[in-house]
Amino acid sequence: MNIMILGSGGREHAFAYKIKQSTLCKNLYVAPGNSGTSEIATNLEIQVNQFELIADAIQKYIISMVIVGPEVPLVNGLNDYIKSHKKLSNVIVIGPNQHASQLEGSKDFAKDFLNRHNIPTAAHKTFTAQTIDDAFLYIDSMPAPYVLKADGLAAGKGVLIIDDPNEAKNELNEMLTKSKFGDAGNSVVIEEFLDGIELSCFALTDGKDYKLLPSAKDYKRIGEGDTGLNTGGMGAVSPPTFLTQDFFNKIEKKVIKPTIDGLKNDNIDYQGFLFFGLIKVKEEPYVIEYNVRMGDPESEVVLPRIKSDFLELLLSVSNGELSNHQVEIDSQQAATVFLVSGGYPEKYEKGKEIFGLDIKSDSILFHAGAKSENGKIKTNGGRVIAITSMADSVKDALEKSYETIKSIKFEKMNYRKDIGFDL
Ligand code: AMP
Ligand code: GLY
Repeated sequence: MNIMILGSGGREHAFAYKIKQSTLCKNLYVAPGNSGTSEIATNLEIQVNQFELIADAIQKYIISMVIVGPEVPLVNGLNDYIKSHKKLSNVIVIGPNQHASQLEGSKDFAKDFLNRHNIPTAAHKTFTAQTIDDAFLYIDSMPAPYVLKADGLAAGKGVLIIDDPNEAKNELNEMLTKSKFGDAGNSVVIEEFLDGIELSCFALTDGKDYKLLPSAKDYKRIGEGDTGLNTGGMGAVSPPTFLTQDFFNKIEKKVIKPTIDGLKNDNIDYQGFLFFGLIKVKEEPYVIEYNVRMGDPESEVVLPRIKSDFLELLLSVSNGELSNHQVEIDSQQAATVFLVSGGYPEKYEKGKEIFGLDIKSDSILFHAGAKSENGKIKTNGGRVIAITSMADSVKDALEKSYETIKSIKFEKMNYRKDIGFDL
């Protein structure tokens, strides 16, 4: 069968790498893709929000399955668009419909869902410009720090954590009355601050059953020791080595299973990945957020650990036969380190030639903000290449990635030298 992956990051290269291993895959397309996906698939010059062009390509290339990498097209209704298109109604879409995608697209929707199904999460209230005075009283009633979340998608920038109550009120005012995050901030969730260690868990579901995928931890801050600005992710490990079987069982019982049951009870149709952004406080898991897709850079460590035929697994999601499948997971552990452009996540330059990518090592190089140009591979974004390695332990996997990195260079290349430092 012919498959199309939507997106252009390391996550989508990791999807392509995995799908390509399946004998069921005939032709693989990635839209728009990057220099890495172009080596193993055909890139199409289509952006993830160009629904009509996506529909045209599905027909032209006789695509049977569309795997949606990022959240934005899902929240904008790509699944519904394809399903309601009279020539595409048989196309399999991995990624939920617009209603279900609100689990990621609206923090308020997600909090309501969590509370309705008694799934542990931080206490919260949601406010709009009309109720800003109540919001100020709510801030006064709670201890610092204050967690403010724009309700809608804000490209990962919509969460503020502020120590000073007056500054929190100022920021809230900016969001609610001055459109600091555009329409995404028309409603703001204010929630209790939770202090603990974060981890990412993943499930694949057909809406009836679910399969657990490997868990991971990502490193979001630009600076060593988890300092400085937030980024899209500077590295990740799988498994998070502090995750014991007991604690994982607790996560499944208190979070994952009630989420799948909740979707069924609420008649929310869901086929695709569910990403549980969790925080471990004392010995209890709390949901920080849901995402309706795989994580990035988590995919770069999670997908290489899946030994089962990944495409077969995705097919079983579409025909409701997921329960008949096992997900075989490699006992090897994985780590990835992102090479980023100097200056990222603030201003940075693009178009720098990347040297050393032909290095012989057993690391896997997942391209992200990188493109091919006249036979050269050049930087094309903030996060450029994720260097993934597998070994008997996360520590050894990290060592392998750092060894591989020694051979790769581009002007102003930056990366964190301490991924896994806290494990
Ligand atoms: P989110 O976009 O909801 O994932 O939030 C972004 C980041 O903010 C998370 O990865 C956490 O590090 C942090 N965060 C969000 N909510 C809370 C909370 N209630 N308590 C502590 N940290 C939080
Ligand atoms: N790594 C976090 C995310 O993909 O949202």
